[in-house]
Amino acid sequence: MNKVFRIAIAGAGQMGLAHAEAYRANGAEIVAVLDQHPDRAARLAQAHGGRAFTQLDAIWAEQPDALSICLPHSLHFEVAMRAVAHRVAILIEKPHCVSLDESQALREACARNGVLAMAGFTHRFLATSQHLKATIASGRFGRIDLAVDRLIAGALRSAHPHWYRQRALAGGGIAMIGMIHAVDRLRWLLATEITTVTALTRTSDPGCDVENTALAMLEFASGAQAMLVAHRSPVHDHERAHHYDLYGERLNASCAVGSFADQELRYIGAADLGSRTVNDDQPFVAEIQEFVSALSTGRTATPDLRDAEIALEVVLAIYESAHSRRPVDLRIQRDTPSHPPPLSDA
Ligand SMILES: NC(=O)c1ccc[n+]([C@@H]2O[C@H](COP(=O)([O-])OP(=O)(O)OC[C@H]3O[C@@H](n4cnc5c(N)ncnc54)[C@H](O)[C@@H]3O)[C@@H](O)[C@H]2O)c1
Repeated sequence: MNKVFRIAIAGAGQMGLAHAEAYRANGAEIVAVLDQHPDRAARLAQAHGGRAFTQLDAIWAEQPDALSICLPHSLHFEVAMRAVAHRVAILIEKPHCVSLDESQALREACARNGVLAMAGFTHRFLATSQHLKATIASGRFGRIDLAVDRLIAGALRSAHPHWYRQRALAGGGIAMIGMIHAVDRLRWLLATEITTVTALTRTSDPGCDVENTALAMLEFASGAQAMLVAHRSPVHDHERAHHYDLYGERLNASCAVGSFADQELRYIGAADLGSRTVNDDQPFVAEIQEFVSALSTGRTATPDLRDAEIALEVVLAIYESAHSRRPVDLRIQRDTPSHPPPLSDA
């Protein structure tokens, strides 16, 4: 009989709920929910099982096999290190850490303790991303020369978590919380490393000390180039949406992702590929299926902490370039041995 994994959730906000639902859909049991607000922890525990806690160290008595970390970004590292010390596997939301020093210490601790760790880059598990990945792998695009990626989200309002607007808790703004998905998705789709970053950011939303606009030009080891734009629009009825285009030698693709359940992928240049509209996708279920499958077989899970570290490194390079007004050459930074080696395989 398959083992029923015992899961703890840290952070009973919107992602804590999405993870809890997805674990249950994968046959796992929620045994503990942690939140600083006892009512939030209790509500999630009541809906999905387990005991509610406000203190991290109380959850280990429930003997979880794994912990999902769905907290404000600056708390991820400390909570992850405590889980690793208790030999508890971690699924850690993006960005997994807010500095490369934290990231390297966490990777080393997981390796030393033999603890499974997966990073929450949900965009890889979207039905449209999976289709594109397979089409790219089949060689239909030929060489991919250019990607253009645009994320427009609503301005931060009272309905958003308050910590989203605080650099001390979020580590950054729209680049850290939103564009990081595009960075990881493109790097994974193109299966090549980002080598240089040139960026601009702008902080113009009153009451926020994080950027609400980010523009980044990326160069890849393959020679491909990408332009990424992310913006929080103050216009009230602007719905959050990602649009991105890939331009290849023989094929182009255009993808729109509104809510995760609402996606459209169009190929240009191959009549047989046509277009697909997806309105019943469950990427969190697919993401957590990968984690649970890795837990049950003892294999590693993808994306891992090295993927997370590289995406974080690119976002930090966006900030560095925006500050210095100069391109950042990641190849030079990676020459130091503590940085992650180039991607060998996607
Ligand atoms: N994968 C995705 O598509 C996706 C989408 C949105 C957010 N996220 C990520 O999920 C994570 C959580 O974001 P969210 O939007 O769910 O935030 P949220 O504010 O809705 O949830 C965070 C929860 O953590 C709790 N919390 C804060 N400080 C705490 C502390 N010291 N101890 C215990 N609990 C504490 C808060 O009370 C809140 O309930 C972030 O890393 C974010 O970037 C991922």
